[in-house]
Amino acid sequence: MASTWLITGTSSGFGRHMTEQLLARGDRVAATLRRPSRLDDLRAQHADRLWVGRLDVTDTAAVRATVDAAWAAFGRIDAVVSNAGYGLFGAVEEMTDEQIERQLDTNVLGSIQMVRAALPHLRAQGGGRILQVASLGGHHAFPGLALYNATKFAMVGFTEALRAEVAPFGIGVTVVEPGSARTAFAEGSAAYAPAMEAYAGTPADALREQVRALDGTTSPGDPARMAAAMIAAADAPEAPVRLILGSDATVMIERALRERLAHVEEQRESAAATDADGARGGEPSWA
Ligand SMILES: NC(=O)c1ccc[n+]([C@@H]2O[C@H](COP(=O)([O-])OP(=O)(O)OC[C@H]3O[C@@H](n4cnc5c(N)ncnc54)[C@H](OP(=O)(O)O)[C@@H]3O)[C@@H](O)[C@H]2O)c1
Repeated sequence: MASTWLITGTSSGFGRHMTEQLLARGDRVAATLRRPSRLDDLRAQHADRLWVGRLDVTDTAAVRATVDAAWAAFGRIDAVVSNAGYGLFGAVEEMTDEQIERQLDTNVLGSIQMVRAALPHLRAQGGGRILQVASLGGHHAFPGLALYNATKFAMVGFTEALRAEVAPFGIGVTVVEPGSARTAFAEGSAAYAPAMEAYAGTPADALREQVRALDGTTSPGDPARMAAAMIAAADAPEAPVRLILGSDATVMIERALRERLAHVEEQRESAAATDADGARGGEPSWA
């Protein structure tokens, strides 16, 4: 069972709920966030068990320095939760270059560098857990969320490959796939592409407006319950490959996977027709 934790994006939402719940049960938490004052209340109550680091995950040098400092503060960290991230809403053509780069820098590169910074410590201590927060949007694509989808699909693939790479070191890796939850996801650090007249009334525009109208009670997911489930997954004797949270996540992930499977069935013969003469069918030789 984990008792020391390193969590990114603890100012609100899942990160804040996890931090609160872990401190309440007596664990030690290295909490990172961009505005450390957001945890002043918890620091006042749990100064001996809460280490706070200012961190913007897009700053790779700061990610490494903060992870090293957290390990130096606690000696050992059982579970690393790479949670910081946000949504960019709008059609691909509407987004600014800066919005696109920031979305990829935060959700993909920030998450990858966080994990890379933690791996030497986890190996040196003989193992531990990594939870990477992805999304139902890592399986199901939505018009108006293409860049967010790109980041979360990326993190599902990254995390599944990483899991097999680091299993020999006793490091368990879980990808967390929440559905829509009652956090600050649609406000807070969310970004909205400037609307173009040409996209008025299109599916991407409609999704942006629906998300803007979310009032904190519309989404099915209870973030405190989801945070508790993430903690339980890190505590479990075997790291689950994935942790799906929310009834909408099961519905939408199942739909996406069934559609993909139907494509495989439809195209089995046409795909095989492109093999070289005499090629061995089935799994690639290097897999
Ligand atoms: N809520 C949902 O519906 C939902 C569903 C599936 C997946 N998720 C994922 O869950 C994770 C947490 O989101 P949430 O729902 O808890 O929303 P949230 O309340 O908005 O929390 C997001 C956290 O990420 C932080 N963050 C954003 N950019 C950052 C950066 N560059 N460096 C460091 N921290 C940064 C935010 O910090 P600031 O306060 O400084 O902005 C905040 O602490 C995200 O990865 C999100 O994609 C959310």
